[in-house]
Amino acid sequence: MKRHRVAAVADIPMGEGREFVVDEKLVAVFNADGQFFALDGICPHAGGPLARGSIQGNVVTCPWHGWQFDIATGRHCLNPLLRHPAYTVSVDGQDLWLELP
Ligand code: FES
Repeated sequence: MKRHRVAAVADIPMGEGREFVVDEKLVAVFNADGQFFALDGICPHAGGPLARGSIQGNVVTCPWHGWQFDIATGRHCLNPLLRHPAYTVSVDGQDLWLELP
């Protein structure tokens, strides 16, 4: 497991996501009511940018065709067998750190 600093806490406004390249992976980091979560940034349906999706509670909706994922687990909201990679985000002072396998 590798730990990477991805951003400052202030870089991701409440209720929004941002996209980062971390260790050659595109990662979407979300701020859901002050809690931070991260998913692989590329939607498995057709490659949409999950970081630009809208967030309601712990659910992000892909901006391209509306697939929805739980941002805490990566689980697809309609198909529980479809699980998108989710990563652990931790807050250390003013910084966000991401753990990648
Ligand atoms: S690319 Fe995400 S729902 Fe189609």
